[in-house]
Amino acid sequence: MKGIIFNLLEDTLVAAYGAAIWEDLLRDIGSDGVYTSLGSYDDDQVQSLVLAASRKLSQPPAEILRWFGRAAMPLLVERYPRYFEGQSSIRAFLYSVNKIIHPEVRKIYPGAIVPTFEFRDAEDGGLLMGYRSPRRFCSLVQGFVEGAAAHFGETIVFTHLKCMHNGDNACLFHIGFGGSNRGSA
Ligand code: HEM
Repeated sequence: MKGIIFNLLEDTLVAAYGAAIWEDLLRDIGSDGVYTSLGSYDDDQVQSLVLAASRKLSQPPAEILRWFGRAAMPLLVERYPRYFEGQSSIRAFLYSVNKIIHPEVRKIYPGAIVPTFEFRDAEDGGLLMGYRSPRRFCSLVQGFVEGAAAHFGETIVFTHLKCMHNGDNACLFHIGFGGSNRGSA
């Protein structure tokens, strides 16, 4: 995982809980905490940090990842404004993650492994979104999507129809637009 993700995790946790929490988590996982944005670090370290945060904050790891995704989105808007400017809706923005953002991330950060999502229109006007990654970060996807929807001033309902954590070979989400958010199924 690229250092940029560790930097975002540090920034969001410190903003919400104060500087000490990051030091505590690093100590828990035995890390020196040197993460440069272009560097690549073991996925195990992200997993360990999420587990350590889960213990410290008494929340399931999936909730930590979802919270992180939501909290990170305003920072991504600030740091990469051009990816958000000119997008009219969360739907258009999500397509642009596949077409523009993640492909550019692969170029800017050599060695980055980013997911490609599968999109299909749902019959009810919503969006079906498929996700597959050995990292199984579906809760991070949910948090990013919810954070981005908030940025575009939209209310969505994000539902997990299939999940790798339940033995499915890929995750499948349904995103409903314009409703009240009831979280994951
Ligand atoms: C709703 C929008 C987005 C979603 C759902 C999303 C989803 C994800 C997920 C789930 C990962 C973890 C990798 C994996 O699952 O294998 C990831 C990685 C990453 N994404 Fe995105 N992303 C979004 C927007 C962005 C934006 C705006 C940026 C801005 C630059 C970005 C940059 C990255 C980077 C740098 C990585 C790390 C790759 C690596 O460490 O190898 N993403 N993304």
